[in-house]
Amino acid sequence: MLSWAANRLTEAGIENARCEAEYIFAAGKEISRNQVLAKLSRPVDILSEELFRKNIEKRGQRIPFGYIFNRANFMGYDLKVTGDTLIPRPETEILVEEAAKYLKSKEGNLKVLDIGTGSGNIAIAIAKFTSAQITATDISARALKVASENSGMQNADVRIEFIQSNLYKSLTADYLNYFDLIISNPPYVNLKEYAKIQPEVKKEPKNALVASGKGLGVIKKILTGAGNFLKERGIIFMEIGYNQRKDVEKFITEKVKFTEIEFIKDYEKIDRILKLTL
Ligand SMILES: C[S@@+](CC[C@H](N)C(=O)[O-])C[C@H]1O[C@@H](n2cnc3c(N)ncnc32)[C@H](O)[C@@H]1O
Repeated sequence: MLSWAANRLTEAGIENARCEAEYIFAAGKEISRNQVLAKLSRPVDILSEELFRKNIEKRGQRIPFGYIFNRANFMGYDLKVTGDTLIPRPETEILVEEAAKYLKSKEGNLKVLDIGTGSGNIAIAIAKFTSAQITATDISARALKVASENSGMQNADVRIEFIQSNLYKSLTADYLNYFDLIISNPPYVNLKEYAKIQPEVKKEPKNALVASGKGLGVIKKILTGAGNFLKERGIIFMEIGYNQRKDVEKFITEKVKFTEIEFIKDYEKIDRILKLTL
């Protein structure tokens, strides 16, 4: 069965096909891959086999693993993901680590705004790692439904409020100069790059990935509006695209007023996190 699956996935252009097949079998049975490997000579019951073949067919259509099983792990927390939410990426964990480090260094009842919350991964991790109160927004009502479910499952409800909003548009006057920190992993892929992106990523919501104007459209709007919602000396942590540092830096220097600007590198030594102080 695993050999058949590995061939099917290889034909579909998937690398490490055998390994993926083992993970897919394990996930279907809700056991670990190691447990699968330890029991390779055991017979498989018919229901497990049917489910496995169905899941391999889905993966063969380049549906990401996370969407086949509707789950993802972010910073050690299991989250539900659906076709309405992005599947959280490892580099976003650096974004959260940096923001959490900052929040832990401050005292008081800190307020955080998470723009474009998607599955709620960032808001939930911040709630778990710090004592901040979080407002999480997204333009997508469907994504917010998943985020709110995840927040409930992780017992983070009391610390996170969800608001459907196109960036800052639905934030009332109560939120003016209210936040200590704004965090965001916004859409930042440009249309040219999107056209060449791998099939799995095309299964994710396009509006979670793509932004206008060299992919900088949403980033610029977030930076432009931030001053109204941040407190004095408030801070922004934002993920950016692998090649966007120069353009982002230029925009900030010319168009928005911040006192300190810093870029933090990801695991591949790419400037990935923008840290800005008002
Ligand atoms: C790159 S995804 C990030 C999702 C999640 N925070 C994560 O890190 O995996 C960007 C999110 O921004 C949302 N979004 C896109 N345009 C938006 C807008 N104008 N206002 C608010 N949210 C927006 C998308 O629906 C999507 O959930």
